[in-house]
Amino acid sequence: MSALAGLISTSITDCGTDLVERVVFGTGDAVEIASALESLVRRSLGTQIEAAMFYEASVGCVAGLLLHNGSKVVVKAYQPRWSDEFLRGVQRAQGALASSGFPCPRPVSGPVHLLGGHALIEAYLADPGQRTITQAMLSVSAAGLATQINLCRGLDGSGLRPHPMDADRDGLYPIPHSPVFDFEATAAGAEWIDQLAQAAKTVRDDHVATPVIAHCDWSARNVRMNETGLLAVYDWDSLSNAAEVVAVGQAAATWSAVDGSKIAPSANEIATYVALYEEARGARFGTAERVVAGAAALYALAYTARCEHAIDPAEAVHRRARPRLTTERDALLELADLMAD
Ligand SMILES: Nc1ncnc2c1ncn2[C@@H]1O[C@H](COP(=O)(O)OP(=O)(O)O)[C@@H](O)[C@H]1O
Ligand SMILES: [Mg+2]
Repeated sequence: MSALAGLISTSITDCGTDLVERVVFGTGDAVEIASALESLVRRSLGTQIEAAMFYEASVGCVAGLLLHNGSKVVVKAYQPRWSDEFLRGVQRAQGALASSGFPCPRPVSGPVHLLGGHALIEAYLADPGQRTITQAMLSVSAAGLATQINLCRGLDGSGLRPHPMDADRDGLYPIPHSPVFDFEATAAGAEWIDQLAQAAKTVRDDHVATPVIAHCDWSARNVRMNETGLLAVYDWDSLSNAAEVVAVGQAAATWSAVDGSKIAPSANEIATYVALYEEARGARFGTAERVVAGAAALYALAYTARCEHAIDPAEAVHRRARPRLTTERDALLELADLMAD
């Protein structure tokens, strides 16, 4: 077994499941996946894999590879619903951001077919690691999102909408981001979450605005920062052509989430995030827009709560979103009041 196949096999063992691999690659066979990645690198880059640096599976499957020619790349393979056209849109915007000096990996090649799905190849950008989140990072995160959105103004966002993670207009949730969460099989007991998700989604989706290109998973899982600025941002298939206030509301609810993180922000903290974003972009949102930001934050919390419920209905381990939904729901639906000065 090659070193890459060994890494894939270890990751599957550590996750306790090959569900993600089976959706992304159509197989959980580590040797088959490694050999498809090897042939992808030969075909697309005309070189070979020298060593495997890392491999991870969560939404997609990501492999960090050192190549024979000395360069380092990352191959990200997607679930089939991440379409070719969408991924081309991602590459255009990501390329423009990288050229502007934004701290994101530079696209290298793709989209290319890989075992039934699609993959993108991008340059390796060393991960400085998730740091302990401090309050000072709140404004760094909010200002960083404002910079990302500003740099993409005027770019062609076609292809980025709908995002593969958007729920249908008439549906409540998207197909969960990972096959680990089975919403249908776990509906019992989730009715209260679904009601809040519906209330939030109705307000959010009734908002009509010219869309912006925004990274819609602006959480510390993807955004590396210190107390003075952004260091590196990953996961660019989270780009969407979305209403600005929706992107900001989602970010306000999720910005501090890291693996194993504690509770989600309160409504007051969400209001502060939105206000700091307004300051960074140099213009306040109107009352109606702030209401939509609150609804988007509430929907993001409800979606996380629904994922928590799917794997931990008794709230034994995963308690990031559900307690906040219970206490903050009304304040979030009236975020404009909290922000009024
Ligand atoms: N271009 C890259 N260079 C270096 N590390 C990367 C790169 N892309 C992703 N990573 C690493 O892999 C992790 C997962 O990548 P990400 O794109 O966020 O996948 P997912 O969609 O599964 O969350 C990142 O947090 C980062 O540590
Ligand atoms: Mg990620």
